[in-house]
Order: sequence, then structure tokens, then C-alpha cells
Amino acid sequence: MHHQLLTSEFTGASLTTPNRIVLPPLVSWNSGEDGTVRERHIEHYHSLRGPGLMIVEATAVAPEGRLAATQLGAFSDRQFDGLARLAETLRSDGAVPGIQLHHAGGKTTLEKNYRHPIPVPSVMPESPEGAYELDEAEIRRIITAFADAAERVVRAGFRYIELHGAHGYLGTQFLSRALNRRRDRWGGDISGRVRFLTELTAEVRARLDSVSSEQAVFGHPTVLGMRLGFTDGDEHGLPPADGLAAAEAVCDAGIRVLHISHTGGSPAPLDPRSRWSPTLQAASAVRRALGDRVPVIGVGELFEPAQAERALRSGMADLTAIGRGLLADPGWAVKTLAGRDDAIERCHECRPKCYHYTEPERCPARRRLKAYSD
Ligand SMILES: Cc1cc2nc3c(=O)[nH]c(=O)nc-3n(C[C@H](O)[C@H](O)[C@H](O)COP(=O)(O)O)c2cc1C
Repeated sequence: MHHQLLTSEFTGASLTTPNRIVLPPLVSWNSGEDGTVRERHIEHYHSLRGPGLMIVEATAVAPEGRLAATQLGAFSDRQFDGLARLAETLRSDGAVPGIQLHHAGGKTTLEKNYRHPIPVPSVMPESPEGAYELDEAEIRRIITAFADAAERVVRAGFRYIELHGAHGYLGTQFLSRALNRRRDRWGGDISGRVRFLTELTAEVRARLDSVSSEQAVFGHPTVLGMRLGFTDGDEHGLPPADGLAAAEAVCDAGIRVLHISHTGGSPAPLDPRSRWSPTLQAASAVRRALGDRVPVIGVGELFEPAQAERALRSGMADLTAIGRGLLADPGWAVKTLAGRDDAIERCHECRPKCYHYTEPERCPARRRLKAYSD
């Protein structure tokens, strides 16, 4: 079946993509302990080709912010050559090469981050062992680490840089009323709680501008986006009005694409009667409020091309990200572009957690695909 919007070019803000399928960031744990790109990253991303925008998985900007020793990193020049190879792989597969920059804050452990002390906005009873409260200088150090990583990945050839402000990591820890108890300018009402993300955006933006002024480095515009955790019921302390205020504030600070997701845990739907996922409903709310300013990427439970096409036609998002659908069948995008939906092996929606987090070889859709090809 032919899906006209999904397969057509998108142009908005400074982002132009050959189709409206997005590979969202998906951790693969494929690095060695030094956080470098390995051959299996290259093979993995090449196998997923087809989306017009491909966003490489959560990539650590600082050693203490890692989720695991095997997480990809952009915190050292030793990681540069592999990142450049990866960006070139995405580019030669026809995608805008994107990458997500990440710091876990308090959502890691000493065991996972190699025993680095763990910076958090506020130390709470549930904070991990080794957590300490960020002071002004430490906040600046982390913001600079993001800017350094952004410069590294842009020089390596990435053209869409996504700051991770979702899923309970450092950005959301600042945003959340529940996790940010600070009384200084980095806490309090939403204008204080969003400050980390706005100052982060401004600093990364300034760094990208200074790199882009070097003509030799720069061929295409670099687009700065953010994966923003929108509402979550109240589990993580971000009511919808605060989510919208945060989205607006980061756009004011220089974000040019919003990739809307949740703040962690199981997000509550804005409308329980809607057939769309909570995160897609959130994207739709953000697009209604801010869609004339920035393109919005919607994500969540879009397993079939027809669903993504319908989401686009209903105006829920400008671009649609397909996570588990692409993990289940890496040919999802190529088959969609060829009008071969019938050949897609659909995600089985394993519960409670996708096997690709831990044991990708157990993914039942992949096993079926393999059985056909053997
Ligand atoms: C195995 C796996 C790894 C993920 N890794 C990341 C990540 O690195 N960064 C991120 O922001 N979201 C991550 N996510 C969330 C996805 O990007 C996506 O938002 C989520 O799976 C919902 O989309 P879907 O319903 O199409 O799968 C991950 C999800 C899965 C299943």
C-alpha cells in the first residue's frame, strides 16, 4: 500500500528529510567499555536504513552519566573516529544523520557508571548510593560537557543533535516537581525547573553556531532538537500545563525540533478514550500549541505504516518515529517505502519489556524473520 504523507519529503524549520519516518534513539549496548562505536553498531544501523531521519541511541556526554559500561559515548576524542564512521553510514543510507546526547543524572548506579559519584538536582531518600546535589559549578560543568559532545558529534558529521530531556534522566529530574526540591534559581516553579534545559539549549546552540561558522567543517545546517518528557499524570511531577510551558521555553531558547515523549514510568493518556498512545497524544497537544514554530516528532505504538500515515493525516505530528516496529523488523522503512506493508513482520508488543533492551536475540518477530530467511 502506498502511504503518501509518510513517504513524502518533509521540510520545516531548518530540517529537510526525504520521508517522514524517523528512527528514534534506541540503546543497543553495542559499545566496548570505552564507549566507542563498534562494527556491530555500523551493521545494526545499516540494517535499519530507510527512515529519513535516523537518530543514534542515547550517547553519554560524561562518564558519570552513563547507564552502562557498554553505552555509546561522545565524551572523549577517542570516540570521534567511530562516530564519524557511523554518521557517514547513516548519510550514505540516505538519512539525515542524528544522534541523541544523554546524561542519566540520578537514574544510574555506581555499579553501572564505574563508581563515579552521581550528580542529581536534589538528593532524595530514593536517590542512588553515591548521589550528591549539584552546585552551580557542577551544573555548568555538565552543560559544558553537553556542548563539548555536541561539537564532537557535529564535527563527526551528525546534522541533527537531540538533547535528552525525557524518560526520567537528568533533564527530567530538573523538570519534575517530585525530584527537584531546590530553592535556588534551578528549582521552584516551572520557570526555574526548566532552567537547566533552557541554559543547556542556549549553550549548545552557541557552540554549534561557532562551529558552523567554520565553513570547512560545515556543509549543511545543524538542527538542534530535544526529546522532551511531557506529562505523566503526576507520577513524576510534571502536569500538562508545565509540560507545555517547558516546551515553549526550550523553543524560545533555541530548540528547532521537539520530539515528544514521557517523563518516565507509565505515562497517563491525556484522553483515556483516545486510540492513540499517551506519548502521541502529548505530541499532538504540543503541535497544536507550538506547531507553527517547530516541527514535532510523534512516537508511540505506531506499529503499522497505515497507523503512522493516519497520525500524520490527523495532524498529530509532522514526523513519526517508529521504535519497536523497526527493531522487530529492521526492513520496516524499506518495505514501507516500497509499498510492501504486507511483508512487514509486526512487533509482537512483548510485555512487560521489549527484549531489545536486554536480549535482542529473543525478539519473537526477529526469530520469525530469521526462520523465513533460513
Ligand atoms: C530497546 C529500546 C531502547 C530504547 N532506547 C532509547 C534511547 O536510547 N533514548 C530514548 O530517548 N528512548 C529510547 N527508547 C524509547 C524509544 O525511542 C521509543 O520512544 C519507545 O520505544 C516508544 O516507541 P515505539 O512504541 O514505537 O516503540 C528505547 C526503547 C526501546 C524499546
